[in-house]
Amino acid sequence: MIPDQTPGTALDQTRAPYFQVLLDYVDSGVIPFHTPGHKQGIGMERAFRDFVGENVLAIDLTQIRGLDDLLQPEEALVEAQELAAEVFGAEQSFFLINGSTSGNQCMMMAALNPGDKLALPRNSHKSAMGGLIMSGADPVWMQPEVDEALHMDHTVTPQTVRATLEREPGIKAVYVVSPTYYGVAADLEAITAIAHEYNVPLLVDEAWGPHFHFHPALPLSAMQAGADICINSTHKMLGSLSQTAMLHVQGNRIRIDRLKAVYKLFLSTSPNLVLVASLDVARRQMALDGAALLSRTIEIANDARARLNEIPGIYCFGEELEGRPGVYDLDPTKITITVKDLGYTGYEAEEILRRRYNVQVELADLFNMVALYTIGTTTEASDALVYGVSELARENRPVDIFSPSGVLDRRIKSGTYHLPKIPPIRLLPREAFLADTEFVPFKTSAGRICAEVITPYPPGIPVISPGEEISPEIIDYLALEKKAGVKMQGPYDDDLRFIRVVR
Ligand SMILES: Cc1ncc(COP(=O)(O)O)c(C=O)c1O
Repeated sequence: MIPDQTPGTALDQTRAPYFQVLLDYVDSGVIPFHTPGHKQGIGMERAFRDFVGENVLAIDLTQIRGLDDLLQPEEALVEAQELAAEVFGAEQSFFLINGSTSGNQCMMMAALNPGDKLALPRNSHKSAMGGLIMSGADPVWMQPEVDEALHMDHTVTPQTVRATLEREPGIKAVYVVSPTYYGVAADLEAITAIAHEYNVPLLVDEAWGPHFHFHPALPLSAMQAGADICINSTHKMLGSLSQTAMLHVQGNRIRIDRLKAVYKLFLSTSPNLVLVASLDVARRQMALDGAALLSRTIEIANDARARLNEIPGIYCFGEELEGRPGVYDLDPTKITITVKDLGYTGYEAEEILRRRYNVQVELADLFNMVALYTIGTTTEASDALVYGVSELARENRPVDIFSPSGVLDRRIKSGTYHLPKIPPIRLLPREAFLADTEFVPFKTSAGRICAEVITPYPPGIPVISPGEEISPEIIDYLALEKKAGVKMQGPYDDDLRFIRVVR
């Protein structure tokens, strides 16, 4: 049963107008001579149809009469996006069907012209590099606060943002990532105030924070903090389907006509309407039940964090980190499980958890694993994670599954291994990406200008990007990550024996 309208909203948040038009279309029994070719499931391969069920195929429709047009919304999609804007605290919200990846591209293309300087943190997701390549913007990298003990970057501080704006005149926009993959949030109110003092917009990659708006125990959302534009991967933390995300905007620092033009450029003319409807219902769910659902999630997560912290050799950071540079606030629904004291890399621990205990975490890196707690996490699932980690901590380090010979390099074990410094920028990302290039052996590529993005994945943060000079330190670092088993995204040669450089 759908509860009453949420107090404090002017619009009727019990409605899911877009889901409803799809249901009405199915009910009306229209005879389809339109795409998709499977015609509401009839032509679909049987095993797949039997598995996914007929209903989802019945609403896999295209934007024909009455189903509105995401590129030019006039009917139910206007209402659906207005309802979203209201609860996410935006002036306008746009539904995305190619994730926050397309959101990052849209934000940058909307705010920047070729050659415009953009201040952004080094730990931006690789999709931000896509935005830089497409827009032709000139990155002014900001160093996020580095946590050597946890071997991770936190957020950029307001002081860093101010210093960057002072040091580099002519910056046209500030872009920050908050929260990080690990759930660490930046002081967005202070950063917004600084950006606005310099009369430039603040763009926020809030891919990991679509739930922030719905619970007082969570960090302030980007829109609440006054940011001009932000993206939310609703599929990551809320109930919408994979690939869905939202872009929220407010104020007059982002030109809406330009944003809409860019949005139309990126969007498929055949959006998957099941995805679109899932955004509509995820918004309704949050509007009506978000606070209660998230209270339960936070409780389960906090309980798990406390139990995990009792396991010898395991550390899950929490409130004790708050107030450190770059750690303004924390999202309690993310649990970072630091396993380095057990003598495992995060990758090894992830694999053991999966193989032996059938538990799959979201992310592993050299020292850590990250477990996501969302409105879909049950206490039973949480117990399975805590059990798996406690067993993992009791085990002797297995010699059979992984190759311990040298993987945990002494530098990593002692916690003194440093993330590589930002290399010198020799060309704009766009120039290098589109330049005449050649392949050279990676090991001996120091001094050359990189023409590709090289991103250990997860967490998806580039170590080197097009236009940057390859340094010995970066070669060393990436070689170590590869040795530890991490996959590299971006290079043409997956094994990274060769690298594409500017000729
Ligand atoms: C910080 C950040 N921004 C953007 C993205 C891209 O989001 P999506 O997978 O929704 O395209 C990710 C994905 O992991 C991310 O971590």
